[in-house]
Amino acid sequence: MHLTFLGHAAFLINLGGTKIIVDPFITDNPTAPCQVSDLMANWILVSHGHFDHLGDAVEIARNSRGTVIGVAELAKFCTNKGVAAHAMHIGGSHDFGSFKVKLTMALHGSSLGSPAEYLGNPCGFIISAQDKTIYHAGDTGLFGDMELLGRLNNIDYALIPIGDNFTMGPDDALEAIRMLRPKTVIPMHYNTWDIIEQDPVKFKENVERELEIPVLTIKPGETITL
Ligand code: NI
Ligand code: MN
Repeated sequence: MHLTFLGHAAFLINLGGTKIIVDPFITDNPTAPCQVSDLMANWILVSHGHFDHLGDAVEIARNSRGTVIGVAELAKFCTNKGVAAHAMHIGGSHDFGSFKVKLTMALHGSSLGSPAEYLGNPCGFIISAQDKTIYHAGDTGLFGDMELLGRLNNIDYALIPIGDNFTMGPDDALEAIRMLRPKTVIPMHYNTWDIIEQDPVKFKENVERELEIPVLTIKPGETITL
């Protein structure tokens, strides 16, 4: 099982036969390591309707005959665009065969365009596959129920936003990790633009010193084996 960081909050999870993309924001992403046409996915998980997460999901689903997974309102938006979508909601889990997904809460917004079209609640994902559990927090502020997520899930990799302004910053991300107790942390949603500029090395040093949990700072385009 391989995890490729596609920049911002976008990740490709390759299970061998099955490819899952989370929050594919490639077009207009200054840190994107590839073109949208390079990406194929059987499943496209979208945490919320903001342009930097819904991004190229519909195009990738169309190109790959893949299925979008998200909250019901966002799923409906995608089916209206002519692609397949599997509607879920927060707290619900579903077994997709080679992997399982549970939707978690996220403190954020979810709309697209102006005037804004409401796309339901934002969410995070707990993805279980091949004996590994990945938590993609989506865009979120810190919330105390992360303690519960940490207690109920044996999280191997926590993908956590650290950019501040729109989501948790590094200090709140440290508190999130204290509650989630993952085996490894991968920071995301930083250094895409100046407004979310952060020092990942400083964040890594702080987390590893305070919590003794390793932080992997992977660059856009980099692939790791889980
Ligand atoms: Ni957002
Ligand atoms: Mn975002």
